[in-house]
Amino acid sequence: MNDNSIYEIIKKCYLQYLNREPDDAGLKHYTHLMKTNQINEQELIKTFKNSPEYKLSHPVDIEPNTPVDIKMKKEWNERTKMDPLFVIATDHSETEEDFWNSGIDECNDILGVNTERYQKIIENKETSNMNILEIGCGIGRILIPMRKFFGNVTGIDISSEMVQLGQKYVSDISNCSIVENNGVDLSEFSDNSFDFCYSFIVFQHIPEKQIVENYIKEVSRILKLGCLFRFQVRGTISTKPSEITTWDGVQFTSDEIHKIAKENNFEVIEEGSYKEEYYWLTFKLKK
Ligand SMILES: C[S@@+](CC[C@H](N)C(=O)[O-])C[C@H]1O[C@@H](n2cnc3c(N)ncnc32)[C@H](O)[C@@H]1O
Repeated sequence: MNDNSIYEIIKKCYLQYLNREPDDAGLKHYTHLMKTNQINEQELIKTFKNSPEYKLSHPVDIEPNTPVDIKMKKEWNERTKMDPLFVIATDHSETEEDFWNSGIDECNDILGVNTERYQKIIENKETSNMNILEIGCGIGRILIPMRKFFGNVTGIDISSEMVQLGQKYVSDISNCSIVENNGVDLSEFSDNSFDFCYSFIVFQHIPEKQIVENYIKEVSRILKLGCLFRFQVRGTISTKPSEITTWDGVQFTSDEIHKIAKENNFEVIEEGSYKEEYYWLTFKLKK
């Protein structure tokens, strides 16, 4: 086999199994193994399928026609069993200290403490009376620091494994709860009941736009009029995964987001770059 055909095989396997172009180190490593006949294409596929990277996208074998809500729940339960800190905050999972400190930083960033955003969130309210909701809270990394700012904080999460672990961390914190949900709506909450809602690194994993849109619609129902929703979706980034999974979820354009905002009575009051993986938005529910 010549170098070019080896390169094509390696590239094809990267795209098919790891959802990305090969990096330099990986390309060099596998080219050497293939050139020296230490592995063939079948063995390369097997290596990829056993890699942690592949397992993040495909943590468990699932019947092809499984409904998407069940698939999300099963796969997030499996990921949690693999390594909860790693699947929640990959870059801050080396030590527990780094993990929990990163949650404090995210909390401050989401609220925009010392900025105009924070003033808009609290809007002359008594913070001890405010009800806050996080969608996809994991084990409470960001939710727990939020309790220092607000009287009542609730997180929902699709994964029963995450919820069980999270409940241990919040059990001795008053007015801080973590609840399992169905992964598609906020049906456990009544209309007009929250003063602020947020979500980070959750919608980027959801495999269908309709589910993200439904969550946004649900937030417009449970928020009080004039309140804010700060959240992040996956923007339209250049690396399109070859397969949409419950790990590599859907991407949004700015036009799509503005349309969804309009349809749900939201004003877009802050917008990051839609060309970034972390495409940030702040919506305000119109009065
Ligand atoms: C990467 S973790 C982030 C957790 C938390 N937001 C944080 O930053 O610490 C993603 C979380 O979203 C949850 N999740 C994934 N899809 C969901 C869905 N459709 N509805 C609710 N939660 C979901 C997962 O179970 C997981 O706990």
